[in-house]
Amino acid sequence: MKLHVYPSVAEVVTSLAGWISDYITETLEKQDRFTFCLAGGSTPKDLYHILAMRYSDNVDWKRVHFFWGDERYVPYNDDRNNARMAIDAFICHTNVPDSQVHKMDTGVDENTSVYDYQKILESYFKDSSTSFDLTLLGLGSDGHTLSLFPSNNNSFSTWTASVRGPEVLRLTLTPEIVNRSKEIVFLVAGEEKAEKVAAVINGADDPKRLPAQLIKPVNGDIHWFLDAAAAKEYKG
Ligand code: 6PG
Repeated sequence: MKLHVYPSVAEVVTSLAGWISDYITETLEKQDRFTFCLAGGSTPKDLYHILAMRYSDNVDWKRVHFFWGDERYVPYNDDRNNARMAIDAFICHTNVPDSQVHKMDTGVDENTSVYDYQKILESYFKDSSTSFDLTLLGLGSDGHTLSLFPSNNNSFSTWTASVRGPEVLRLTLTPEIVNRSKEIVFLVAGEEKAEKVAAVINGADDPKRLPAQLIKPVNGDIHWFLDAAAAKEYKG
């Protein structure tokens, strides 16, 4: 586990954008494609914007395959839709082929969407011991990540699931497939997250209360990119 702490969220996302660009470029020197699982919510939006504005020409995006860690079960054109946020802020500014952008489909019934996404993931990873080259995650002030909330982070038998979120139905990846990622990055900012950051990293193991503790990479590394406010209660 490696902590990367910066004074402001602007410095965090600027540094993380450079780290992601370097990691993708280094990986594509060794393999044909890069699989990148994106986070939803609001914090990553500035990161996505920087990746689009400063790295659209520095990275061979047409060899990158995009996925999402979770989705709110709302229409694509709803402002709460995670795929729409990342595509508008970032992906539409790159030359990645549409066939490599794997949105969770909220235009069909939830069971069909869960099944379809499971099949997409299996087509990439069923014959491998690893999964995504990089998974980007956020952390809620209640300790949730992806759409694994304190009320619904039961054990899962598949890589995708539909769960009841605080406001709307959610589609989410489950810990097993995320924990097979080669690199996992939590991007967290703001004082309201500080208590949970410290509890998730250093606190007693309590994944029922802190679902983010379910994220334990099998062989990969985990990085926390934090601003000073989110890191203030962490005692390393
Ligand atoms: C979502 C996210 C969720 C998010 C955290 C943090 O769909 O809401 O996937 O897990 O990462 O809630 O969200 P913020 O970055 O908006 O604080």
